[in-house]
Parts: sequence; C-alpha cells; structure tokens
Amino acid sequence: MSILRVVGLVCSFLITAAALMPTAFAAGDPAEGAKAFRVCAACHSLATDRNMTGPSLAGIWGRKAGSLKSFDRYSRALKSSAIVWNQKTLDAWLKSPAAFIPRNNMNFRGIPDTRQRADLIAFLKAESNGSFQLPAAMTASPFKDLKQLGPAHQVTAIRYCRDSYRITTADGRMTAFWEANLRFKTDSSDKGPLPGRPVIMPAGMMGDRASVFFAAPGEISEFIKHHCDAEAK
Ligand code: HEC
Repeated sequence: MSILRVVGLVCSFLITAAALMPTAFAAGDPAEGAKAFRVCAACHSLATDRNMTGPSLAGIWGRKAGSLKSFDRYSRALKSSAIVWNQKTLDAWLKSPAAFIPRNNMNFRGIPDTRQRADLIAFLKAESNGSFQLPAAMTASPFKDLKQLGPAHQVTAIRYCRDSYRITTADGRMTAFWEANLRFKTDSSDKGPLPGRPVIMPAGMMGDRASVFFAAPGEISEFIKHHCDAEAK
C-alpha cells in the first residue's frame, strides 16, 4: 500500500469520526459561558451556599440533583430524579428544564442554541474544577449589606392608619406610602439587618414603592403601630 493511500485512509477515518461526534458535546468555551451565565445569575450565585431563588451552583459538576444541604426549596421532582449533573444531563436540563424533569421549580424556558448550552456547560465544569478564574464581580454578593446603610434607610418607626403606612427614618424624615406599594420582607442572611433594626429600600423607578426588610418575621407586626393621630400628616 502506498503511503498516500495510507494517509488517505487515515484522513477519511478522521473525517467520519468527526461527523459521528454528537454536536451537543462539541467543546464549549468557558469564557463565552461566563457571559451567558448572566441570565442564570438572576436566580443562581456561584458562591458556596449562597442560595437565592435557586440553589448555589458552586461545584455543580458531579453533584447529585437536588442534594445541596443548605437549599430548602427543591421540588420533589428534582430531588427524586436520581440525576447526577454532567455534560449529558446538564445539556438536557438547559435545553428544556420542563421536558427533562416535569414539575420542577426552575421557572426558565431553556436555551435552544446548542453552542450556547455547550459554552455554559464548559463554564460550569471549569468553575467546578477550579480551572476558571471567576471575575470578582461574579463572586461578589449581588446584595448590599443592609447593616451598612445610612440613616435615610434605617427605619425607626412605622405607623399604619387607614390605607397608609408612615415610615420614619433615622434622618428624621417621615414618608407616607399607600399600603399596596409597601412590601415587608425578611432577610435572615449575613447581609440582613440587625434584629430590631429594619431598613427601607426603594423599589421600582418612581420612588412611590419600597420594601422594608426585617431580621425575622416576628418583628413585623410588633414594629407596626396601628393608630391615627392628629400629627400623622
Ligand atoms: C427564574 C429563576 C432561575 C433561572 C433564571 C435559572 N434557574 Fe436554575 N434553578 C432555579 C430553581 C428554583 C432551581 C431548583 C429547581 C427544583 O428544585 O425543581 C434550579 C435548579 C438548577 C439546577 C439544579 C441544581 C441542583 O442543586 O440540583 C441547575 C444545574 C441549574 N438550575 C442551572 C441553571 C442555569 C445554568 C441557568 C441559566 C441558563 C439557570 N439555572 C437559570 C431557578 C432558576
């Protein structure tokens, strides 16, 4: 057999092998995946045990689905799926979470683009095995430390009268809110307020809505004084 013939055979073998490779497993680009992760970051952090709407995805590669101990809100469907996160399972999940695990809690339609999924998966793998240096912005908490806020945010009194809440802050100001525009929330994380020291944060663009954060739910009704008196203008 001539050398040219051998080279030809080897080439045709390589071409066939390449054609048979499933495209879903083409190597992704972790740097592109890091950019694509922005849509996930609304619900997932990459800091260990910092859970949001969804569980932290730090070290997700090789983890059993629904097994992060610090996350309390897994669906029964995900927990009982017996899936381990790898190239194949992540690809199916990110393509269509609802089709892969019906009745799961991830409110996300999926990513139809094969390339983008491959990039994301390459990124999650590289993050898990420590071979990808996350930019500081990706590990920094997306949340402000509510204990560090200034007097304009520190709530000293909340009065409720008819359909209004009047919030007094440590800078001496009082602001009135229509009751439907104010939300009461708790933040038990290390970024949350100190016990008994709720804080107010504006919500939305117009300045007419806000959220008040407490350290624990029991504080809420204790803090709100229900009375209408003459000076409550
Ligand atoms: C709207 C919020 C939201 C978005 C956006 C979102 N997720 Fe999720 N994700 C969740 C929730 C909630 C769960 C838990 C699902 C359950 O328990 O059924 C979850 C679970 C997961 C899991 C399984 C975790 C485990 O511990 O088993 C992975 C992996 C995952 N998401 C990856 C992603 C990726 C990658 C993206 C971006 C392409 C993304 N998610 C976008 C909310 C979201």
